[in-house]
Amino acid sequence: MRLRHAFVVGALTVLATLAAGLFVPAGVESKEETHYLASWSPIEGLAARNAYVGAAACLQCHSNLAKTAPETPMAQAAILSGQFDLLHNQPELTYQLGPFGYNIRRRGNQLVYSVSDGKDTLSEPIQYAFGFGLKGQTYVFTHDGVYYESHLSYYVNTRGLDITFGHPSQVPSSLDEALGHRLSPGDAQLCFACHTTAAVIEGRLDPRSLMPGVGCESCHGPGAEHTAAVKAGKFDRPHIFNPGRLQPGDLVDFCGNCHRTWEQVIKMQIFSVRNVRFQPYRLSSSRCWGFDDARISCLACHDPHQNLRPDAAFYDSKCLACHVSGRGARPGKTHPGAACPVASENCVTCHMPKYTLPEGKSEFTDHFIRIVRKNAPYPG
Ligand code: HEC
Ligand code: HEC
Ligand code: HEC
Ligand code: HEC
Ligand code: HEC
Ligand code: HEC
Ligand code: HEC
Repeated sequence: MRLRHAFVVGALTVLATLAAGLFVPAGVESKEETHYLASWSPIEGLAARNAYVGAAACLQCHSNLAKTAPETPMAQAAILSGQFDLLHNQPELTYQLGPFGYNIRRRGNQLVYSVSDGKDTLSEPIQYAFGFGLKGQTYVFTHDGVYYESHLSYYVNTRGLDITFGHPSQVPSSLDEALGHRLSPGDAQLCFACHTTAAVIEGRLDPRSLMPGVGCESCHGPGAEHTAAVKAGKFDRPHIFNPGRLQPGDLVDFCGNCHRTWEQVIKMQIFSVRNVRFQPYRLSSSRCWGFDDARISCLACHDPHQNLRPDAAFYDSKCLACHVSGRGARPGKTHPGAACPVASENCVTCHMPKYTLPEGKSEFTDHFIRIVRKNAPYPG
């Protein structure tokens, strides 16, 4: 296999307890190390609690982002129960799994998740919904003092509950198992690290300062020093991490902290359609990929402060930054990509097809840009 990355990811923190075998790369390095907070890793969370100020403080000065940034699904990747209609306009959500009857109901201002085997019932108030709900939402709550991931999740496709993606599909053998998956401390820490902000303090899960969703300081690192520096009129350096200063390939790995990097997917050994959700891996498998080419980094097509663009035509200019178009056009130095013999617009509809995960629950866009032949198997 060709090594696609020009550098070797630094020390890997092994979270051996994770079923998926996830690895967390150390902070990526910026080219201007000495002048900027350069080694921020969104999921290691090594900063102290008082280093964070919260998104509202950032938006007081960066008000140009106030309209769009807090509204993105990423910013709402976890939602506090009670602040959102988790019942999706339904009076209650119910599901039957073998002998186990489930429901999610409102009780006062709480939402309560219950499972019963006919004799006994376990009920817990939902603390968070993980996932903004474009595809699905999984509930996180504590039971016996331990974090659980609900055995059932809400799916938009069916507008109802079903078994959580990745959980075994056979009928659970006990009420506790039917309730959900008991998260090990390492698992819980990683879940919160990827879906919330400032949940991991000095390297340990500490929900006291947790802000639900991927907030400003999740990507930019804590902002107290930056805020104080700006207020004091110190512009010698920004005192905050800006992923925009990373080399394009390092930026892809930065997003890959949560969206999974090429190295992580290789380590996880997921070579089926299940890896379609790992965009950094898929993208760097395509012939368009160039490690140091900003035209193919995540930022070429996505602004993390804005909603994803659903209109295919929006992406044409991104492709045509590298591909020539029109009859007889030849690739050259500035445009190394060939012209399409078939069409001149809506490139992504044919070359970045959508796949539904095996359980049929959610759809992802294949970032492995390529010629897709009819009935060809999914290139893992
Ligand atoms: C008191 C006003 C103020 C607050 C509060 C503030 N910023 Fe800034 N920020 C600025 C100014 C002014 C600049 C541009 C000057 C500079 O480059 O340092 C800036 C620059 C930046 C940059 C660009 C840095 C670079 O590499 O050039 C980022 C990223 C940033 N801010 C993020 C944040 C985040 C995230 C927060 C909240 C944690 C925040 N800011 C809070 C005023 C503020
Ligand atoms: C701290 C973890 C984290 C980091 C870092 C991160 N993401 Fe995300 N991102 C998420 C999560 C979690 C979601 C799922 C949001 C949801 O619940 O639908 C998401 C969703 C998205 C979406 C889909 C939004 C939609 O409308 O469906 C895009 C696009 C995206 N991220 C791009 C990026 C880019 C580009 C970067 C790097 C600049 C990045 N992300 C870095 C965690 C992260
Ligand atoms: C390594 C980072 C990481 C960890 C750990 C993680 N997630 Fe996610 N999660 C993501 C990213 C990134 C997405 C967005 C996937 C996409 O759309 O490409 C996501 C998407 C989701 C979604 C679907 C949201 C939607 O509408 O698309 C749910 C539900 C979810 N995660 C729940 C969980 C729960 C519950 C845990 C822990 C028990 C967890 N995740 C752990 C990164 C992570
Ligand atoms: C998912 C990661 C992510 C999140 C969340 C995020 N940013 Fe950013 N931010 C980036 C990246 C990547 C860039 C570099 C963009 C570029 O250079 O095109 C950036 C750039 C910036 C800049 C510099 C803009 C410039 O003109 O270069 C500021 C200021 C900023 N972000 C503030 C914020 C604030 C405030 C929030 C919260 C409301 C926030 N960001 C949330 C990833 C993120
Ligand atoms: C050449 C353009 C392009 C690049 C580069 C790109 N994306 Fe995308 N991305 C898309 C398109 C097109 C969609 C689907 C938009 C739609 O139909 O709603 C998408 C969708 C997504 C989604 C939503 C879930 C899904 O799979 O449909 C996430 C998350 C995402 N991209 C993350 C990333 C990350 C992280 C990177 C960098 C590794 C990246 N993208 C690079 C074009 C791009
Ligand atoms: C950074 C430059 C760059 C960008 C951006 C880019 N490509 Fe490419 N692409 C290339 C290069 C270089 C090749 C290999 C030479 C060739 O076949 O033209 C290639 C190859 C291809 C191929 C042939 C793949 C194969 O398996 O033979 C297709 C199809 C393609 N690109 C479509 C797209 C589409 C669609 C987009 C936008 C979503 C896009 N490219 C964006 C540079 C790029
Ligand atoms: C209707 C579907 C469709 C659309 C839309 C489309 N393509 Fe294609 N493209 C194809 C097919 C099919 C092929 C393979 C043609 C063949 O080899 O027979 C192809 C081939 C290519 C190739 C390989 C050419 C070569 O000589 O190796 C590139 C590059 C490419 N397309 C880029 C693009 C770009 C860029 C766009 C948008 C401007 C685009 N395509 C829009 C279907 C499409």
